[in-house]
Amino acid sequence: MRIIQATSREEAVETAASLVLERILAHPTSVIGLATGRTMEPVYARFCELALTSRVPLSQTFFFLLDEYMGLPDGHPTSFKHYIRTHFLRPLSIPESQIAFPPAGDVDGPERYEELLRESHGVDLQLLGIGQNGHIGFNEPGSDKTSRTRVVRLTEETISANRGQLTDIIPEKALSMGIGTIREAKSLLLLATGKTKAEAIKYLMNHHDDPTCPATFLKDHPHFTLVLDPDAASRINLNI
Ligand code: GLP
Repeated sequence: MRIIQATSREEAVETAASLVLERILAHPTSVIGLATGRTMEPVYARFCELALTSRVPLSQTFFFLLDEYMGLPDGHPTSFKHYIRTHFLRPLSIPESQIAFPPAGDVDGPERYEELLRESHGVDLQLLGIGQNGHIGFNEPGSDKTSRTRVVRLTEETISANRGQLTDIIPEKALSMGIGTIREAKSLLLLATGKTKAEAIKYLMNHHDDPTCPATFLKDHPHFTLVLDPDAASRINLNI
């Protein structure tokens, strides 16, 4: 695990955005896994600025979205599809033929998504945030290390942490890439910012393969980069 401890939140965001950009610049045909959440908003804003000014060739890049709420009308303002259109696709004029959205409305959605991932020869770089309870995507505590894309029930804790982003419908379930699916990405880039993530990061640093904190399942991935801002890193001491 490579840990990059930034000296400010802005630097952490800049690092994450630059790592994605560098990957695409070096390999324009990359498959990139996108995450959502408040943490990623400034990353996408910065990525868009950098990509537009440096004219990054994005037309051959393909994207997969990590997860999606269930029970929402297609493109509902709470949906991650709406999020990614707003923060990523539209600012960069990326057509929707270049992204796969989790088919959250379909009974065979999980199997189809896994098949799509296989057909695309997997994700090269997966961008990830972390839940306050250590969840990755929507792999809540209790998830299995080998879990595949599936329908998951959200914990009360996650619903309450995300309440600020929810509108008229409060989703109870989501379709999420599994931990095993995520681990198949060639490289993982997890960004944690803010004091609310400090406990989860401390737990992550001190535990391995612990189902109560699914993020620990990523630690033995050969190319796992963890980017932290000072607040997220405030409960760990990397100098020991
Ligand atoms: C959400 C998403 C995750 C995200 C996490 C943290 O529920 N499913 O992909 O990483 O929770 O979100 P935030 O960045 O808003 O704290």
